[in-house]
Amino acid sequence: MPIVETTSIFKTYRSGVFKRVTVPALVDVSLSVDSGEIFGLLGPNGAGKTTFIKILLSIVHPTTGGATILGETLGSLKIKEKIGYLPENHRYPQFLTGYQTLHFFGGLSGLTGPALRDRALSLLDLVGLSEWKKVKIKRYSKGMLQRLGLAQALLNDPEILFLDEPTDGVDPVGRKEIRDLLKDLRKQGKTIFLNSHLLSEVEAISDRVAILNKGKVLKVGTVSEITSRALEYELRLDKTVSESLKSLILPHTTSLKVEGTSLIVGVKDQEALNTIIDRVRSEGIHLAGLQERKSTLEESFIELIQAKGQA
Ligand SMILES: Nc1ncnc2c1ncn2[C@@H]1O[C@H](COP(=O)(O)OP(=O)(O)OP(=O)(O)O)[C@@H](O)[C@H]1O
Ligand SMILES: [Mg+2]
Repeated sequence: MPIVETTSIFKTYRSGVFKRVTVPALVDVSLSVDSGEIFGLLGPNGAGKTTFIKILLSIVHPTTGGATILGETLGSLKIKEKIGYLPENHRYPQFLTGYQTLHFFGGLSGLTGPALRDRALSLLDLVGLSEWKKVKIKRYSKGMLQRLGLAQALLNDPEILFLDEPTDGVDPVGRKEIRDLLKDLRKQGKTIFLNSHLLSEVEAISDRVAILNKGKVLKVGTVSEITSRALEYELRLDKTVSESLKSLILPHTTSLKVEGTSLIVGVKDQEALNTIIDRVRSEGIHLAGLQERKSTLEESFIELIQAKGQA
């Protein structure tokens, strides 16, 4: 069941003298996020990721189009009680300690007295900052600040978490800790919407991803749907590939590449693959291995963005 659903969102910023410069930040964005999933919105700088989250949080209004979150339309106060938000490049007052920061934000979300204190302490524990709770945050590392930001986003025990670049600037160990924390939160039934340009991060934890470029959604799907190329196989041979073998195979392929003693063939169906294997054998060459080819999310991302850029 979709928990977030947007229909044809367009956002055009106007800036400059007399607001004559228009920037199309989002173009016809329709996405849905299912309950309990980690959904990753991927895109290069300026793609519109932050704008999209800000629209869902009603910080920015769409030019046209709309959305529902937990069945409520945008702007409903009921939504705000049920969502948590970790903004991009957040800044907390440097003179506060970790505990005081959570105490302050917890107060804003309506917690008081012992419930507020307990919530702040248990979240500090959850994000591994208990030992730092009395230390001023000006001494925190980037990774610790991001974890504190996550704790802040969890204060009201939200159903949906919106995280804008949660691992930005965090070292590999810190990133792994944040990933593990997000997986635990998913286990608890939270839905997580995550913006990132760090592909490997998103690949490691997202159930589904959308690729956004210049405000447009280029593709939506599971990581494996996005990364599997249309039937591409690597045939490892025991001899180098001759020109005569290549010309025998070519009519049965949609693409053909030679890498050392490997043939990389694109085919339209399994039958074509079998025909190619027969041709290879008929030349007295043996197969040393056969493997389906998948790209990494990074390769698919670059391919998609470059293809659309040239279109
Ligand atoms: N308040 C604003 N006024 C004018 N243009 C804006 C404003 N906010 C964003 N933009 C423009 O809208 C486009 C999308 O910006 P946005 O911040 O949503 O991208 P992003 O994908 O989050 O990028 P990044 O990866 O750098 O965080 C960019 O071209 C940006 O310059
Ligand atoms: Mg951004």
